[in-house]
Amino acid sequence: MLFDTHTHVNFPEFDPDREQILKDAQDQGLWMTNVGCDYKSSKSAVELASKFKDGVYATVGQHPTDSKEHFDEEIYSALITDKVVAIGECGLDYYHQKEEAGINKQKAEFIKQIHFAQKLGLPLVIHCRDAYHDLIEILQAEYTGQAIIHSFTDSGDTAKKFLDLGYYIALNAILIFDKTGRLAEVAKNLPSDRILIETDAPFLSPNRGKRNEPANVKRVAERIAEIREVSLEEVSDLTFTNACRIYQLEKSPSTGLRT
Ligand code: NI
Repeated sequence: MLFDTHTHVNFPEFDPDREQILKDAQDQGLWMTNVGCDYKSSKSAVELASKFKDGVYATVGQHPTDSKEHFDEEIYSALITDKVVAIGECGLDYYHQKEEAGINKQKAEFIKQIHFAQKLGLPLVIHCRDAYHDLIEILQAEYTGQAIIHSFTDSGDTAKKFLDLGYYIALNAILIFDKTGRLAEVAKNLPSDRILIETDAPFLSPNRGKRNEPANVKRVAERIAEIREVSLEEVSDLTFTNACRIYQLEKSPSTGLRT
């Protein structure tokens, strides 16, 4: 079984065939967490998850640059169900935001979501671009819970800082295209109990120019297997087990629609 720990089947790109994508995933034993980036996409992620017994989960939260909103704990609290497995994606993105006022807003919104996750006992799903120093400083000051570093593309030294905090590192198709070898080095050295795989679909397709889909998470698993010189089954198993642990899920065969 595979677990796409970060995908967006809740996004409009999947309007034409969302049901088929979810049905295929259930048939293939592919589990997924649909991630919210603002109130609307968080709500749709929760609604999608509510239709299934197991295998489809949701996060709620506000992306540092995709959302112009202010994070309101009261409004987001109303979205929390037993299928919500994390808070995010939230974090810091200085690549898309270089103004001081914008950066200060990002920090404030991030801290609100950190406190929300801490209160609920849910892990954070973290988006970080060109902001690792500030991100780690904020987390060390404000948070004692668990986190996933989504779409990790940085160095082994940065990965180590997150591992030291007990966090998980999620890899996607960027690993397949990485020509520098730096990310392969990270993938090779990550402890087996901290690696996750994801697609970030509809983005970051391993088939350039095409919409990405949760099923392509297998391509990421294959690349990791190649790098670590282990079988695909081993990578599938360990990443699935890790996903269940961080999302606090029981491995369960009860997939299918809720009746
Ligand atoms: Ni995403």
